[in-house]
Amino acid sequence: MRKILVRVLAFTACFGLTALETAPARADAPVTYADDVAPIIYNNCSSCHRPGQIGPMSLLGFEEARPWAKSIAKVVSERSMPPWKGTSDHRKFKNDARMSDADIDTLVRWAKSGAAPGDLSKAPAPPTYTDGGWRIGTPDAVFTMAPYTVSDDTEDVYIWRTIENHLTEDKWIKAVEVKSTYPEGTHHNLTFLVPKGAGPAGRDGGRDGARDLFTGWAPGTDELVYTPGTGKLLPADHDILFQMHYHKEPGEGTGGTDETSIAVLFADGPVEHPITTAWILDPTLNIPAGEANYKSESAFRFIDNGRIYSFTPHMHLLGKDITYIAEYPDGTTETLLDVPAWDFNWQINYKLTEPVEVPRGTKVRVIATFDNSADNPWNPDATTDVRWGEKTTDEMMIGFMDYIYMKRKKYQRTMALPEGIGDNFFGGEGRRGRRGGGRRGGPGGRGEQRDAESSSNSESNPDSEASTAGGQ
Ligand code: HEC
Repeated sequence: MRKILVRVLAFTACFGLTALETAPARADAPVTYADDVAPIIYNNCSSCHRPGQIGPMSLLGFEEARPWAKSIAKVVSERSMPPWKGTSDHRKFKNDARMSDADIDTLVRWAKSGAAPGDLSKAPAPPTYTDGGWRIGTPDAVFTMAPYTVSDDTEDVYIWRTIENHLTEDKWIKAVEVKSTYPEGTHHNLTFLVPKGAGPAGRDGGRDGARDLFTGWAPGTDELVYTPGTGKLLPADHDILFQMHYHKEPGEGTGGTDETSIAVLFADGPVEHPITTAWILDPTLNIPAGEANYKSESAFRFIDNGRIYSFTPHMHLLGKDITYIAEYPDGTTETLLDVPAWDFNWQINYKLTEPVEVPRGTKVRVIATFDNSADNPWNPDATTDVRWGEKTTDEMMIGFMDYIYMKRKKYQRTMALPEGIGDNFFGGEGRRGRRGGGRRGGPGGRGEQRDAESSSNSESNPDSEASTAGGQ
């Protein structure tokens, strides 16, 4: 992770340098920690840079921040911190982390002028986090996996863990958060729901029982708080299944023990609109060695009126850029999300401030570019063709999208698979889709629907050895 990050900073620097050139306000006023810097750090940095969070150091007070002043100036000027990679034509994101030019300028001037404390007795108190480390507040339920130790010499490992759901009744969930206790070596968590008794979780954990993607985590992912009236169902007859991917540079002292937990808040009443996480994906990826501009595309078609709440693009080291474009039935198009410089280290979920209302017939295209050339500083090996797969050195192209259909009775939870790539591509998952809806009953039932299509590479044969849909 570390090694990759160093390259990332070098890579992103060229996109962010304009920030420094912006004319500063109050150009000759002295800048002090107490007066100027503390509030900026508390607002923009301490959510991660405090004990128990993913930032490598705490920035919770003058003593903590002072030694980092120069580094702070550098990372905010480059806009590599706080991490944020996306833009949109018209949409705003409630977790948009971009700082104002004025705040960046203040941090830069603080570092340049010697990082003075000012009158610390007048500094604002650090924010208190009485949440026991959970950003969603005090959880209604927490599910924690059995400890798993990653050894020093491990580079890449996937494990599956089933966690008993101890709740005795079905619960609608209004907020969810995943937290690893070993974030420095955790590449991702995917959380699924599996029917109780589906059998032990192996590599294909729970595959025989149908499974739904419930949530997930990777560095950069925040908690998810669903809009009132929407939510996800946690049925009492389902257990929780984690897929954990640990990834790091092997080496002494790099190992650790993880006990990832998922915390939830219960909705106060019944939820009218179940949120569905669609996977808009292109598993036919086959990126030739040396190819610097490999295009991949997949699309999701709304078969009724709906609403989109968030996007979480996912690629690995060869990802270059990724875009979600809406094509509306009236012929207009809109870029909903554009990530022009994909950064594998930050798997950010882009949460819309206002949902996008999409009329029936809207197509959401996800278009990605991959760079398998030696010019891509993250590319571990430019001499190998790269396909879809679970390892970090394999590739993925997934546009996750949280959405609802307005008529809940008609369409229930939908996991979309691309058309035209063969039902067996993901083993049981595709077949399950075809058998269709309501099979498992429960509140709201769960229909299945195949309404996404892969429009690139669809002529090529699916690779039957390609990995499971659960890989990320
Ligand atoms: C979303 C969480 C998050 C936020 C918000 C965030 N950081 Fe970070 N920051 C990290 C993580 C994680 C790393 C380490 C990345 C790695 O090493 O893989 C990091 C690294 C850094 C580093 C480099 C540390 C080193 O070892 O060289 C600096 C400096 C830094 N952050 C400053 C800031 C500042 C200043 C802000 C606010 C303006 C900020 N960060 C906001 C998570 C965050």
